[in-house]
Amino acid sequence: MKILRAEFIRSCLTTEQLPSGTIPEFAFAGRSNVGKSSLINTLLQRRGLAKVSRTPGKTRALNLFAVSTDDPTMPHCHIVDLPGYGYAKVSKSVRAQWAPLVEGYLANRDQLLAVVLLVESRVPREQDGDTIAWLASIGCSPIVVATKADKLKAGERVGALRRLCDVLAIQNREALIPFSSVTKEGRDRLWAALLLRVRT
Ligand code: GTP
Ligand code: MG
Repeated sequence: MKILRAEFIRSCLTTEQLPSGTIPEFAFAGRSNVGKSSLINTLLQRRGLAKVSRTPGKTRALNLFAVSTDDPTMPHCHIVDLPGYGYAKVSKSVRAQWAPLVEGYLANRDQLLAVVLLVESRVPREQDGDTIAWLASIGCSPIVVATKADKLKAGERVGALRRLCDVLAIQNREALIPFSSVTKEGRDRLWAALLLRVRT
């Protein structure tokens, strides 16, 4: 997939600040530090477009990027980098602010075409299963991506991905997309999964 345009358009701290209109959106969710911003940069082939940080909890707002590709079946769209959840050091007051923001966005946004849920390849967490269950409760079936796949040694890869599917109750193992922002593994598969949501 060739990216013709990818630019930051807006940072939203309330859902009122989101753009109106009909441009379809793809949202990227997951725990703090799971690699959301890195994945977005890899997907869009733009280094430093979404801010990557060693300090978890860096992304506090909904950050929107306008994207055009060379694929005629992919409409001009917005990529939305969501704040990470589940980071203990984020103060209660900050969390009280962004939980309703993220949940309100995911539950009510008409333009939202698909949610990509990022989970860490090596560290299955029950909380990610809770997120999948919550998304199911609002009628959303996310595209699930296993990040930092480059950290899996060849011998542990199959077992780690199987364990992840078990913990997250993912029936179809083929549906889980291993991804690495270091090796770019998974970029084409993820674009194909996004395109499938456009068509269905
Ligand atoms: P928040 O915005 O805080 O929620 O984090 P995030 O989910 O956006 O994660 P971010 O992309 O900022 O990455 C967090 C850390 O993980 C950084 O130190 C990245 O360099 C590292 N990282 C991200 N993706 C990968 C990957 O595919 N492989 C490896 N080895 N490290 C990665
Ligand atoms: Mg981020």
